[in-house]
Amino acid sequence: MIGGKIKYDHEFMSAKRVGKYGYKDSEIKSLAKKLRSINKELKEKKDSPELSFRKLPFDKKTLKQVVNLSRKFRRLYDNLVVVGIGGSDLGARAIYQALAGDYATQMSSRQMNLYFAGNTTDPAPLVDLLKVINLKKTLIYVISKSGSTTETMSTFLFLRKKLIQKVGKKKHKDQIIITTGHDSILSEIAQKEGYQVLPHYPGGGRYSVLSVHGLLPIACAGFDVERLLAGAKVIERISKKNSLKANSVFFFAVLQYLAFTKRKQNISVIMPYNYNLNEFGFWFRQLWAESLGKIYNNKNKKIHTGMTPIASLGPTDQHSQIQLYNEGPFDKVVTFIITENQKNNLKVPKYKNDDLNYLNNHKFLDILKIEHKATAVSLMKNKRANGTIYLPKLNEYYLGQLFYFYEMATVYMGELLNVNVFDQPGVEQSKNFMYGLLGREGYEKYKNEITKI
Ligand code: PA5
Repeated sequence: MIGGKIKYDHEFMSAKRVGKYGYKDSEIKSLAKKLRSINKELKEKKDSPELSFRKLPFDKKTLKQVVNLSRKFRRLYDNLVVVGIGGSDLGARAIYQALAGDYATQMSSRQMNLYFAGNTTDPAPLVDLLKVINLKKTLIYVISKSGSTTETMSTFLFLRKKLIQKVGKKKHKDQIIITTGHDSILSEIAQKEGYQVLPHYPGGGRYSVLSVHGLLPIACAGFDVERLLAGAKVIERISKKNSLKANSVFFFAVLQYLAFTKRKQNISVIMPYNYNLNEFGFWFRQLWAESLGKIYNNKNKKIHTGMTPIASLGPTDQHSQIQLYNEGPFDKVVTFIITENQKNNLKVPKYKNDDLNYLNNHKFLDILKIEHKATAVSLMKNKRANGTIYLPKLNEYYLGQLFYFYEMATVYMGELLNVNVFDQPGVEQSKNFMYGLLGREGYEKYKNEITKI
């Protein structure tokens, strides 16, 4: 077992345990040599906008601003509605679920409830949202780097109108905050309307969880964002190390890379045994898919690469996906996440029944751990490669580590596969057709093309 504070247990990823479906020490040794040059190259590019996410854990100025603003907002409002999609949505959503759970209501008068909108154009959740929030006590936080994303902008315009109807044109200004890139349409609107703008950090959406738009909502909900950043710093330090033994992030990436390139294990499953890390799985899914799924490599050669991410949840998916994982094609590697020292003494009450006696007085958390172990071992017995990330606790500090671990692991995967992890050209085509069909100026040719089909 290696790693910093969070630990990555890779025993069941090895050939010793899963035969030809696992990694061999010799394969690792040859890749270990690449770490120094990859780290050197990343260091040389450290001031590029793409890699600016590595500066976020050390950004004291933003931290101070976020903490001060959140104090003010918590005094004034009960709710914060985050409006965004993809990288402008999934990070804060995942941290909030991890720390507050699914049933978070106002836990103390100083905390705000978070709601998330703008990740769909289906009006149903918007209708539901307006049933549960009082707009007079609500702050709306719109996040879009491009400032033109259809789902985000349509939701923003709708909520803005509702807000104006409720509190009036003059007052509504105080209740809308914007994070966007310079010179975007949203930035123009913010200037015109007089909304407060907290600029988007220079990098892209899916690496933005520790920037202002991940931090502000979480601080408003009353959590310790400084600890999140402190956790990320631990992994940043580990990522700077050039020895494979010390750099667990690179080690993780290497094992995924070997599984993908040497053994056709082209599906990477994440399966937390923490109910409240379900949303983390969706954050990972976007990060891994958009960053690694590419036609071209960095030499402009067509390679059609990418490892498909799947978000599973333990033990829920033991009753759904595990049949496939245990007996289906040998095309997956599974990464479990489990928390070692959660404090919760909830027990299954005693009940006299021969078939249920085995449950008597077991703590739920012990059952959860046993279920994880049983699943990992059964996969291993079936020669299915799997590893486990252990979090000492599910709190801000270890979450900061977990998010940053995956961000850096994705960057390393990109380096090993030789692809640009920071662009997403594959997202554009369907967007262009959509703009054409919606009648956006300049997109007429896409409309013509699609209406011919
Ligand atoms: O990772 C990304 O860059 C994307 O997922 C974007 O975050 C997403 O498409 C939303 O874009 P924007 O922030 O421009 O509205």
